Amino acid sequence: MSRVIAPGSIVGVLGGGQLGRMFAMSARRLGYRVHTLAPEHDTPTGQIADVEVNAPYDDLDAVRAFARAVDIVTFEFENVPAAAVAAAEEHAIVRPNGRALHVAQHRIREKTFLAGHGFPVVPFASVRTEAELAAALDRVGRPAILKTTAFGYDGKGQMAIGPETDAIAAWDALQRQEAVLESFVDLEREISVIGARGVDGTRASFGPIDNAHRHHILDISVAPSGADPEILAQALAATDGVLDALDFIGILCIEFFVTRDGRLLINEIAPRPHNSGHLTFDACRTSQFEQQLRAICGLPLGSPDLLQPAAMANLLGDLWQDGEPRWEAALAFPSVKLHLYGKRSARAGRKMGHLTALAPTATEARTLVVDARESLKKRG
Ligand SMILES: Nc1ncnc2c1ncn2[C@@H]1O[C@H](COP(=O)(O)OP(=O)(O)O)[C@@H](O)[C@H]1O
Ligand SMILES: [Mg+2]
Repeated sequence: MSRVIAPGSIVGVLGGGQLGRMFAMSARRLGYRVHTLAPEHDTPTGQIADVEVNAPYDDLDAVRAFARAVDIVTFEFENVPAAAVAAAEEHAIVRPNGRALHVAQHRIREKTFLAGHGFPVVPFASVRTEAELAAALDRVGRPAILKTTAFGYDGKGQMAIGPETDAIAAWDALQRQEAVLESFVDLEREISVIGARGVDGTRASFGPIDNAHRHHILDISVAPSGADPEILAQALAATDGVLDALDFIGILCIEFFVTRDGRLLINEIAPRPHNSGHLTFDACRTSQFEQQLRAICGLPLGSPDLLQPAAMANLLGDLWQDGEPRWEAALAFPSVKLHLYGKRSARAGRKMGHLTALAPTATEARTLVVDARESLKKRG
């Protein structure tokens, strides 16, 4: 079982987005071959992989054939159906295992798992009927957020419940899908830790990283985090605990809330590299993507050390509204790196790329990356 999957082997990636793209870049640098499976054609991952297979995730025969052709399967997209993971497991090693995916795919399962293991989570209640919605409002109170249990990302599938909100109308807006009601947290900040755990149980995690969101989408990440040292230590310890509780192999990001009254709560977990870890590509001795490869292949984990304070700014499709951004302006900043994901259509809110800036302090890195992003918009 603890056989090393050595360079030259073939890694299969379920999912075709930018996380798979940056993973594939890291894997190819280390001499691995990469196959990817996704429903779409010419995906960000497919553009880098040796082989791109186009099939829906529920085409189990296609998933089996994909798994037979590779030495190990991983994923970059956590909504791969459980049946597809099981089909892949018939023919290849799959890491992380299906259990972590199962837990992370469903907000109620996730929160129940975390609370059951003693990790602090936001007060929540499940909503499957009108009666449960009323009971949940009594328990959780207002203000609150109603979130669909599955397939949410970038704030999609969420409704704010203020003091006057008609909660039934809000649930109607979510097509009355199974949901979770969470109390609205008064946030001091949001932080994340990118946990890594190898086949032998060794851990080497990145962070904590400070994260700022706009319209529920990650906007800026900064490392190292400026949170209270006690909170930082708690976040690292909680990450170790979650990695062990899931017997996890690979990369797992934990998004945390830090409340104004100084408590640390787990918001959610993602069993894969994470947008807040993109700065590790330029700023750490090992990137989160190389770490994912090392972890799943049974190789020694790399050092997650931060070489310099860094900040990352997402580039969303909105930037294209007045035409192609002025890439040369951002590239004129000597310590700024540009990453683009090869996506053809720039829809509003779509993650098209990111910028990373390195500087002597986290504050300077943040200012630099914001200035570089602003420079993309300037005309004439
Ligand atoms: N209970 C909450 N209290 C306060 N802010 C929240 C809460 N839940 C979500 N948010 C805000 O919305 C963002 C996205 O929510 P999240 O649950 O992480 O969903 P997604 O799966 O879309 O990332 C969070 O990072 C945070 O900024
Ligand atoms: Mg989130």
